[in-house]
Amino acid sequence: MSNIVNEHVEKYIRGLVHESEDYFLQLEDYAEEHHVPIIHKEVKSLLAFVVKSTNVRSVLEIGTAIGYSASVFARAMNGKGKITSIERRESYHDMAKENVEKLGYETEFDFRLGDAMEVLDDIDGTYDLIFVDAAKGHYQVFLDKCLDKLNPGGVIVSDNVLYQGMIASDEYVIRRKKTIVKRMRNYLDHISNHPDFTTTLLPISDGVALSYKHGGQDE
Ligand SMILES: C[S@@+](CC[C@H](N)C(=O)[O-])C[C@H]1O[C@@H](n2cnc3c(N)ncnc32)[C@H](O)[C@@H]1O
Repeated sequence: MSNIVNEHVEKYIRGLVHESEDYFLQLEDYAEEHHVPIIHKEVKSLLAFVVKSTNVRSVLEIGTAIGYSASVFARAMNGKGKITSIERRESYHDMAKENVEKLGYETEFDFRLGDAMEVLDDIDGTYDLIFVDAAKGHYQVFLDKCLDKLNPGGVIVSDNVLYQGMIASDEYVIRRKKTIVKRMRNYLDHISNHPDFTTTLLPISDGVALSYKHGGQDE
């Protein structure tokens, strides 16, 4: 239960998402058993939708965990394209590399180990999509470091931006989360009012923000 969507509505929406193939089911089971936070089913389909509808060919991901969402991106790109993904926890980073090998895709995976606050400075090149799914208190810093890595017409997908409902109302804020909440509100305010982006906020899962960078082909 996310605290954002009514439980019965969430259950209904998830029920409409196609069952995963064995590969994804195994990762989902592992994640549940070992308490690895991975994207929810409705975010999985949203990511595939964005990749396919905007013809994404390259992804920069902040927060690999065990490679579940990276695999979702790879599959949505028909096993092709390029994915750079950053994770600071070595055991997850290693597992992600092992997992995607099982996919047998041509996708060019580049898994980086380390704190994204530093690793992002070492990443050259630009991407069609940037997926922000790591420490919630640092989204603004991640954005600042990513701005020049997103192609015009590209999309930033930021997960968990409503953080169990706490972002929308002080009523739900847990005292020890106050700093994260304040930073996330500032991030959403910033990206929603940024002149280079059109942003929309979806109250699904734990809250997802989609930010389109102006300057695509027909603009
Ligand atoms: C929600 S999980 C990512 C889930 C993954 N995107 C998926 O859906 O399969 C967040 C991950 O980000 C990692 N993380 C958090 N802060 C980070 C940072 N500053 N740099 C790199 N990784 C970070 C955590 O270790 C964790 O594995």
